[in-house]
Amino acid sequence: MKEIAPITPPAAIRNEAAASIQKLFQQHVVPSYGRFDLVFSHGAGSCVWDVAGKRYLDLGAGIAVCCLGHSHPKITEALVEQSQKLIHVSNLYYHEPQGRLAQALVNLIGPGKCFFANSGAEANEGLFKLARKFGHAEGRFEIITALNSFHGRTLAGIAATGQEKVKKGFEPMTPGFRHVAYNNLEALRQAISPATVAILIEGIQGEGGITPATPEYLLGLRQLCDEKKLLLFMDGVQCGHFRTGCFQSFQRILESHPDGRPFLPDGVSMAKSLGGGLPIGAFWVRQPYADLLSAGTHASTFGGTPLICAVALKVLEVIAKEELAQQARDTGEYLRAGLQRLADTYPPVIKTVRGLGLMLGFELRSNNTNLAKGDQAPSLQFVNLLHQAGLLTIPAGAQVVRLLPPLNLRRSEADEGLRLIEAVVAKLAI
Ligand SMILES: Cc1ncc(COP(=O)(O)O)c(C=O)c1O
Repeated sequence: MKEIAPITPPAAIRNEAAASIQKLFQQHVVPSYGRFDLVFSHGAGSCVWDVAGKRYLDLGAGIAVCCLGHSHPKITEALVEQSQKLIHVSNLYYHEPQGRLAQALVNLIGPGKCFFANSGAEANEGLFKLARKFGHAEGRFEIITALNSFHGRTLAGIAATGQEKVKKGFEPMTPGFRHVAYNNLEALRQAISPATVAILIEGIQGEGGITPATPEYLLGLRQLCDEKKLLLFMDGVQCGHFRTGCFQSFQRILESHPDGRPFLPDGVSMAKSLGGGLPIGAFWVRQPYADLLSAGTHASTFGGTPLICAVALKVLEVIAKEELAQQARDTGEYLRAGLQRLADTYPPVIKTVRGLGLMLGFELRSNNTNLAKGDQAPSLQFVNLLHQAGLLTIPAGAQVVRLLPPLNLRRSEADEGLRLIEAVVAKLAI
């Protein structure tokens, strides 16, 4: 196959290229995203380059998507091989990659079945429909989710999300969703009504600012759902796919709890890292409910094409072969310790460090005078300062900066990230 080598034109032309690309967006792309002033042209491993040739260490990985980094040769190989065989046939027919991917996901979670879609929001939509089907005969339809949660930007996704900012301007909300405090079992118990049919929570809240569920909360939820005949759904879109060191975050959270072993939710949504950068979403549903969505009740044209499933299978194969679950755990602990050291050294800037494996966040001190000056949220200002230093991270809310790097991040790259963060933190501490 012919190699595509990035061409590096002179600086003046490169800067002009950035401006002209941004102009295309301003003129022709719906402005629904608040974009940073960065225009990228290519990436390799844990790095990306902008059109001016500046290198950035990417500890955001496309918001927890590029789990093998950029331009991974095995992803290219799977894409080329499968595209020469069969890209798409529709879900009117059978094909091997979708069946094998479903089998692999079932082996990683537990006895059940999978449905394939294209995004996290669509995976959650599938779970919502499953819940409605489950409770239909009894007139139960209500799903309880957590405050500060995030479940996608579709109409049901924003109704399910426990943050007002995503709902504003799109009312009236799709009915049937209520939100209660996260990690608070009693609040949940109180919120259950005769119409309640399911509970949906993230194992680690991502957009909400990197807050893991406690083992007691998860075990209590399982018990409560069994007691009240509710389905327990886990949104693993951001925290799943070995990011925490286990396939799903609930497996990691409960791994050393004496009662953690038999825990299984009734449904799990997945997306992001599942395709290593290509769009795919999926949900897994536990065995007694796996055939609730019968023929004709749910569908997606592009859900689980041969091409995307072949890539997702290759991503799983690389993670297993290169022992990236263990690497995510080890590098995550290393990064977390480094961030904690910064928090201890610069208490006027960093308040707390949170997360598991390679899903980490640090909370900025709200009274830091250097960050209180600007119009922008402190997290945005901090992320912009890191951009100048050559590091990509992701803001979460006003105070938290997230690190969601590729699972194969090297120790030397973790060190580089910590050095760059420290340089910014040190300046803000003065
Ligand atoms: C926990 C969670 N659920 C759902 C979604 C929505 O996924 P998508 O953007 O692929 O629709 C996201 C996206 O950030 C997420 O973090």
